[in-house]
Amino acid sequence: MSYIVTGGAGFIGGHLVDYLVSRRSDVIAIDDLSGGSYINSKSKFVKLDLRRPANMNTPKGSGIFHFAANPSVRDSMTNPTEHFDRDVKTTVNVMESARKADSEFVVFLSTSAVYGEAKRLPTSESDPVNPISNYAEFKLLAESIICFYSRNYGIKAASLRLANVVGGRSDHGVVYDFVKKLRHSQETLEILGDGSQSKSYMYIDDAIRAIMTAASKMPDSYSMFNVGSTDRISVKEIAQIVAGKMGISPKYIYKDWGRGRGWSGDVKHMQLDASRIRKLGWRPKFSSSQAVSKAVDDALRE
Ligand SMILES: NC(=O)c1ccc[n+]([C@@H]2O[C@H](COP(=O)([O-])OP(=O)(O)OC[C@H]3O[C@@H](n4cnc5c(N)ncnc54)[C@H](O)[C@@H]3O)[C@@H](O)[C@H]2O)c1
Repeated sequence: MSYIVTGGAGFIGGHLVDYLVSRRSDVIAIDDLSGGSYINSKSKFVKLDLRRPANMNTPKGSGIFHFAANPSVRDSMTNPTEHFDRDVKTTVNVMESARKADSEFVVFLSTSAVYGEAKRLPTSESDPVNPISNYAEFKLLAESIICFYSRNYGIKAASLRLANVVGGRSDHGVVYDFVKKLRHSQETLEILGDGSQSKSYMYIDDAIRAIMTAASKMPDSYSMFNVGSTDRISVKEIAQIVAGKMGISPKYIYKDWGRGRGWSGDVKHMQLDASRIRKLGWRPKFSSSQAVSKAVDDALRE
């Protein structure tokens, strides 16, 4: 079977392309290079802006991994129409292509942010959704589009509500931000929020295994899975891991956006109950702090 990876030049998409290429699969990465820039020379690469209903040339019966989006929560609060186009319009176009090509399956990357300030941690798929950012709201709309196409056109599809993913080649998120800032100046580290925000972090290899588990074992109808490690850590602990790995002791300066949050739309505490995907055989190998430590090692090598 051949595979399409939208957002294939991005952080998660690029790692999935590497994985598929290493398994000698036929893979086409599609990306407009607005966010990512990674191209695996052994994969086919198509530069395409999926906001326009373009011909993706999806081979008949291929599996589609739809990852193209703008993943910045903060940016979605100031630039909602651009986000809507990248997160929602792209999804309609990808699902139309999946329908025309009788795709074998679609795996969509959604986000833990759809739960907003969850009343229950760890949060399960049956807990209420309550987005507090445009990004999360648009991901919910995209889930709904995928569910519609799946139910009405018989396309097997799964949405994965991912916790934070960290690892090599990431150019966004807290680990990237701290390493970049501390490379620039080792005296102080600006921490967005009051440092007590606590969230779950997953290493990229665990995320790729979850994506492949969903692709190979999803039920015939539409399904949705939480995917995350089994614990969470605070932003201050992440700062300490980064500073420790760099062998420095910066002074922490907190920039509180309000009620301890880092920015508009920031969810303060997040941890997912991933027992549904665990039933398919997936387990995270790394805890949140192990994932962050490995991601810092990766970033310091780059
Ligand atoms: N990284 C995380 O922690 C995380 C957590 C939850 C969900 N997600 C989701 O996983 C997916 C991948 O995230 P990522 O961290 O790899 O982000 P990323 O920005 O590295 O990758 C997204 C890619 O999509 C591409 N893209 C954007 N708009 C496009 C368009 N109109 N046409 C074609 N390509 C387009 C970008 O150029 C980029 O390469 C996203 O959908 C994101 O929302 C990521």
